Amino acid sequence: MNVRRLYGHRKRNGKCDVDGKRVLLIIGGGIAAYKCLDLVRRLRERGVRVRVVLTEAGTRFVTPLSLSALTNDRVFGDLFSLDDEREIGHIRLSREADLLVVAPATADLLAKMAGGHADDLATAVLLATDKPVLAAPAMNPRMWLHPATQRNVAQLEADGVTFVPPGIGEMAERGEAGPGRLAEVPDLVSAIEAALAGAANVGAEGSGPRHSLAGRRIVVTSGPTHEPIDPVRYIANRSSGKQGHAIAAAAAALGADVMLISGPVNLPDPPGVSIVRIETADELLAAVQAAMPADVGIFAAAVADWRVANASGQKIKKGASGSSVPTLELVENPDVLRTIARDRKVRPSLVVGFAAETQDVIANAQKKRKSKACDWIVANDVSPDTGIMGGDRNTVHLVTGEGVESWPDLAKEEVAQRLLLRVAEELARSEP
Ligand code: CTP
Repeated sequence: MNVRRLYGHRKRNGKCDVDGKRVLLIIGGGIAAYKCLDLVRRLRERGVRVRVVLTEAGTRFVTPLSLSALTNDRVFGDLFSLDDEREIGHIRLSREADLLVVAPATADLLAKMAGGHADDLATAVLLATDKPVLAAPAMNPRMWLHPATQRNVAQLEADGVTFVPPGIGEMAERGEAGPGRLAEVPDLVSAIEAALAGAANVGAEGSGPRHSLAGRRIVVTSGPTHEPIDPVRYIANRSSGKQGHAIAAAAAALGADVMLISGPVNLPDPPGVSIVRIETADELLAAVQAAMPADVGIFAAAVADWRVANASGQKIKKGASGSSVPTLELVENPDVLRTIARDRKVRPSLVVGFAAETQDVIANAQKKRKSKACDWIVANDVSPDTGIMGGDRNTVHLVTGEGVESWPDLAKEEVAQRLLLRVAEELARSEP
């Protein structure tokens, strides 16, 4: 993540640019509302004056008392409270703020905002305001990816609302994963600082409408191939399939229609993807060709470069070639990535290859991007001491036509999520 985005709005003398600015924080009714307690503290540390409007549903998750203690102010809630209206009306709540922040912005709250409802204090303030509005959605992934929510978000963006997109990951509900987690507090603080500082684009990494892959078909290859020597022996490699499978899962979590073509691995099938299992490079090529057309092809499989020219139909017996050991004649396998990338009739609009290197990682990856005719290469150093092959973490460089981005050491799931967010951005950029 761009560090300036997170911590950049700080003056040289150590004071924050946002010192003395006023935020009206509208807290919706979601389990993530608890993060607002920390958010208020972090904002106040930076000298931001925070006033809270707590929706009726929000009171089920955080109490007015704790928010009042943290803001050192009263907490507003009921549109029809005569006391509130006498002391400070909803118009004044908006007038006395520099920025309105809606967090967590639930599906229901977003729908009301998009529809212009004003049946409680929160929505009335939002409808009456002429101040910038920053919304941080949080909801179940299915609700987030639902066309109705995406429509509402697109409408609100068109209306000028800025979004801090939700993160991807495990939800509070067991077994639910995908985009929909409220952005983390440092990201929220960063986005608020940027909005207060008047920055035009506060889009942190995440999954706003530009990051949805709904309606896109993505084909992913994963795992090793096994090239038979005879019915019981084969040539293989150390690929675990973890990175390719994580990519398929991340694509599905963003709403894509995913076809995962996998060599033999010891991994559970990622949720929400169609799977084709193959063993050899020849089978992989046939399966990928059958899976076309696709919008995106991501070739993470560690395909064996060679296969045995004349694999034996029977188990090769010791001593079959007299006293000498058998000699294996190898022939080159088809290059699946290159074949698809060069085939004009089936080439996906975005082709992403991987480069497994043990030396000159970036230079070799740049060469591979050209020789394989792909758009991007995800390059990684697979030297044994990196522990990448078969491990849970990966340090990659994304090589594109525009340059090289070196990502920090990340869990393979995080690499996958970042990559898929970049893919979604790229698709939105090239075919909005
Ligand atoms: N690949 C492929 N078919 C092959 C070999 C590789 O589709 N027969 C793809 C891999 O899935 C990966 C990319 O090509 O996306 C690069 O793979 P890599 O093993 O790094 O490179 P190789 O082409 O095998 O070249 P070398 O072994 O010389 O580095």
